[in-house]
Amino acid sequence: MHRKTRELLELDRKHVWHPFTQMQDYENMYHVPIVGAEGIKLFDAYGNYYYDTISSWWCKVLGHNVKEIQRAMIKQMRKYEHVMFAGLTHEPGIRLASKLIEITHPGLQHVFYSDNGSTSVEVALKIAVQYWTNKGIEGKNRFICLENGYHGDTLGAMSVSGTSQFFDPYKALLFDAFRSPSPYCYRCMYHESAGYCDYECLVPLRDMLEKAHERIAAVVLEPLVQAAGGMIVYPVEYLDRLMKIVRQYDVLVIFDEIATGFGRTGKLFAYEYLDDSPDILCVSKALTNGTLPLAATIVTDEIYFAFYDDYLKGKTFFHGHTFTANPIACAAALKTIELIEKKNLVKKFSKKRMVIEKYMGRLENFEFFGDIRSIGTIVAFELVKNKKTKERFEKAKRISWQICRSSLRYNIILRPLGDVLYFNFPLSVKISELGEIFGIFERYASEEITTICGNGDGL
Ligand SMILES: Cc1ncc(COP(=O)(O)O)c(C=O)c1O
Repeated sequence: MHRKTRELLELDRKHVWHPFTQMQDYENMYHVPIVGAEGIKLFDAYGNYYYDTISSWWCKVLGHNVKEIQRAMIKQMRKYEHVMFAGLTHEPGIRLASKLIEITHPGLQHVFYSDNGSTSVEVALKIAVQYWTNKGIEGKNRFICLENGYHGDTLGAMSVSGTSQFFDPYKALLFDAFRSPSPYCYRCMYHESAGYCDYECLVPLRDMLEKAHERIAAVVLEPLVQAAGGMIVYPVEYLDRLMKIVRQYDVLVIFDEIATGFGRTGKLFAYEYLDDSPDILCVSKALTNGTLPLAATIVTDEIYFAFYDDYLKGKTFFHGHTFTANPIACAAALKTIELIEKKNLVKKFSKKRMVIEKYMGRLENFEFFGDIRSIGTIVAFELVKNKKTKERFEKAKRISWQICRSSLRYNIILRPLGDVLYFNFPLSVKISELGEIFGIFERYASEEITTICGNGDGL
């Protein structure tokens, strides 16, 4: 190993605390110092390349090192890098807001910026609660969310999430929210088959609204894919029915499209599968193609004007972050959206879907892939010990973790979500790259994953 790399890794071990990482594991892990990136590939300091099959936590919707985006950022950087967004304004912030309004549902009219997915959800929750108080309606300050939902790691976002393994240590800090069953068809708690049921999983939601709608500010959910909850892809009909139920009550709807936005589900936004749209929409991640952190919470006129009044009436939305609407990030976002549109990437992905579906069919034969589910750029593989009974592997065996670590030897970057392995390709992935990646993955499944699952009593 090169001396400089060794020194860097020593400093990493000594001083850096990595996210979602047991640092004792990390110390003993094979470290991957990234030194370059291009398209769907990452390059490390040892001369290896890896397919970034998860788009660096789902951000790199156009892949890495996109020159047009870099040029737009540099151009902006040379003018001014950052100015506060309270009392001042700037062209990239204004143009991006207008663009977001143009590409989202006509009902959505006003953009509130923040700087990551979690904060855009915090903003949405606060807006929803204050909307009702500003309208003079007291007591509507609770939320309905879904089991297996994930909305981020800040306290409000955790409170409305349903992935308890992440949040248990902080339970005492979180506020109560009502959790409706997850539309997790593979593990349906009513033992129904996907698409052949009457969506009994919506009954608790309807009951809760019936009993408590006077206390509910909003329903918050990830449309069509519960991403961090295990890439749980669920039917449009579930979402459609849910919206029809919620619309019978005076309750807002918040769609968290932080993971699903910008073409991840086969449409620019997942809500486009519906006739309806949310009252509040949260976007981040792919918004800047993962170049700089930026998020937006987009609301209707109805919501915006509930805050618009004489200052002394106390209806102002008192929220903001230092880096709100960072101009370089806004310039990156504008260019990202322009490229997605100009290259017609969302529509063109349908050709790549045919390739993906062909390969998915081949992988279904593996006994340890209990469920293979997919939508748009996402393909998820749920690992099971027993395909017939859907029995899970023992947690202590850390099967998915072992698999993801060893995937590096096959030049693929994977990261587990519980027992689920997944790909989330850039829209820009080439058909030849999909062929290569699935080819490697099939070989990897028949060699390494078979061995790991076998050692875990999976065969
Ligand atoms: C649906 C969803 N909401 C919110 C978040 C939180 O975003 P961030 O990690 O930028 O805070 C994520 C992150 O994965 C997400 O997938």
